Amino acid sequence: RTSFTVLGIETSCDDTGVAIVNSDRQIISEAIHLQQQLHEPYGGIVPNLAMSSHQQYLPLVIREALDKANMDIDKDIDVIAVTRGPGLPACLGNGLSAGKALAAALRKPLIGVHHMEAHALTARLTHQTPDLLPFPFLTLLISGGHTLILVARGVNHYIHLGTTIDDSVGEAYDKIARLLKIPWLKGRGGGPGAALEQFAKNGDPKKFSVPIPMTKDKRRKEAMNLSFSGLKTSISSLITKHNLDLDNENIKRDLASTFQKSVIAHLTDKLRLAFKWCKEKGIPLTALVASGGVASNKSIRSSLELLAAEQYNVPLICPPPHLCTDNGVMVAWAGVERFRLGLVDEYTIDHMPKWPI
Ligand code: KG4
Ligand code: ZN
Repeated sequence: RTSFTVLGIETSCDDTGVAIVNSDRQIISEAIHLQQQLHEPYGGIVPNLAMSSHQQYLPLVIREALDKANMDIDKDIDVIAVTRGPGLPACLGNGLSAGKALAAALRKPLIGVHHMEAHALTARLTHQTPDLLPFPFLTLLISGGHTLILVARGVNHYIHLGTTIDDSVGEAYDKIARLLKIPWLKGRGGGPGAALEQFAKNGDPKKFSVPIPMTKDKRRKEAMNLSFSGLKTSISSLITKHNLDLDNENIKRDLASTFQKSVIAHLTDKLRLAFKWCKEKGIPLTALVASGGVASNKSIRSSLELLAAEQYNVPLICPPPHLCTDNGVMVAWAGVERFRLGLVDEYTIDHMPKWPI
């Protein structure tokens, strides 16, 4: 068969996402139910609440995706793709059970998708040139759950270069937003990270200074790992040391922009090493792809763009912001990519809460 259509389901964290994508790189429909308001009072995602919300809304989100596409699942959908991991166990379980049940009942092929592979492959869907963005490309996945530097050599084929040894970069944003009592931005593309970005925009990044994490030992392979927990401690100490008034908006803006500047310096330090590593191995990179929730940050994007041009003369490719955060489209697309290669799974697959890529 030359052309086929995939329904994708994503429930690994706090977004219930369903989408229909075809092998001609068309997003036929997307539906999403966000849980931001549910978790905001707790300052972070509460797994049990996330799970019951998926349980409650997933059927309606599936229905909505089909209605928007004006499609019947039995006639018009060829393949069911669903996030298998990594993620919150109970949340993954919800989506996976639904996907498996649909696929088995309808006798459709089932594809269990790696959430981070889905983030990485999204660029091949959204970068709409006549040909697919070719492998290999360097990938930076920066979200609430993960901080990863990978070389994408092909579908199902990644080289892991670095990851965080403590907090994810998204967590760092979320914790600093909480520390500075910055109210979350509402709606799609909102949340604490996006709110901090807005705050940082009008701040003075030179007013304060904090050390950039892990700048030593550049030659070891582990040197491509990242660390974000120290930044939070540094910002906290600044506040105590200078007895800073967090009711003063300007001080908060300066701190936010100091934090963001350090994050960018840290990310670009590590990516510089990754580019160097690829050069030494003779890997002909075609692009730097940045994906995950934090990649919708405009300051981060512009720094990465400069770096990619300067280090490897390659473009920075980022999916549009709403496809950088968790969504069903990326899962459906990963399903397209895997189905093309015959990477189909059994109806008995289990979730993989911790699943190295
Ligand atoms: O990819 P994502 O939606 O979910 C995970 O798989 O984790 O990423 C969510 C993370 C949150 O930590 C959120 O605060 C952060 O991405 N984020 C941002 C921005 N937008 C979302 N961080 C910095 N700047 C942004 N504009
Ligand atoms: Zn994600």
